[in-house]
Amino acid sequence: FEKIPNCNLAQICADEIKKANNIVLLSGAGMSTNAGIPDFRGPNGIYRRQLGVNPERIFDIDYFLEDPSFFYKFHREFLQTLKNIKPTYAHKFFAALEKNGKLKGIITQNIDSLHQMAGSKNVMEIHGGIWKSFCIDCNKTWDYEESMKLVFSQEVPRCDRCGGIIKPDIVFFGEMVKHLEESQKLVKECDLLFVVGSSLVVTPAALLPRLARGKIIIVNKGETNKSYLPSNIPTLHVEQDIDEFFKAVNYHIGLDFE
Ligand code: OAD
Ligand code: ZN
Repeated sequence: FEKIPNCNLAQICADEIKKANNIVLLSGAGMSTNAGIPDFRGPNGIYRRQLGVNPERIFDIDYFLEDPSFFYKFHREFLQTLKNIKPTYAHKFFAALEKNGKLKGIITQNIDSLHQMAGSKNVMEIHGGIWKSFCIDCNKTWDYEESMKLVFSQEVPRCDRCGGIIKPDIVFFGEMVKHLEESQKLVKECDLLFVVGSSLVVTPAALLPRLARGKIIIVNKGETNKSYLPSNIPTLHVEQDIDEFFKAVNYHIGLDFE
């Protein structure tokens, strides 16, 4: 699979899609860089920024409890980058694959909801999202609109019932991911797993490909951690721009969308 010489990778990928009946996608931040949202570990990633402290602290639950203003300062900036975003070609390509019955689900580490915007239905947001927020002390919850108002009106949003810190429903380091069992089931049952735009550093997301029994196609430029990948499953790594690559793939498949 990975050692076929002089072959067009897009053609190989298209052939695998044609053969497959149960495709699953695991997506990461690289999927949305072409939409204008920075990733974490890419050359211009959020964790490359010089913040004076380890930038991974932005999403560290212990640090959040100590100094929530550090996260909120970043979060307000991040929410600005989400304004007027549009799904990329690759988001739409995977939505079209679901529509034609080939793709069974998307497991995403992203919180930008671009998959849903592209029309994807079965999306597991394993790192949560910004749809709601809750008080870490009394669990009172706020919907998206209310959360946005609170985030932009207070340096650190506080609960009006008990004064507790309000936290968006994003999964931080040190917290349990969501939909883990459903995601594991999707990967176990698929015959073709795509891993797109993830450095495969953060567990347990990076451990999901180990459960694959079919084939794996990774589309990711730059550093990609291969240490958690299964050794007994045919794996193809395409080191190209995600949208360029899926345009080339669809040239051989001809899904009609946009
Ligand atoms: P990373 O930022 O770790 O990895 C994104 C990968 O995508 C990098 O290897 C980039 O080089 C690559 N990439 C970016 N744009 C690309 C493009 N147009 N074409 C091809 N490759 C491209 O993002 P994740 O693996 O998603 O967690 O990070 C996992 C988790 O770490 C995130 O969900 C986040 C973070 O801490 C939380 O916030 C809880
Ligand atoms: Zn409260």
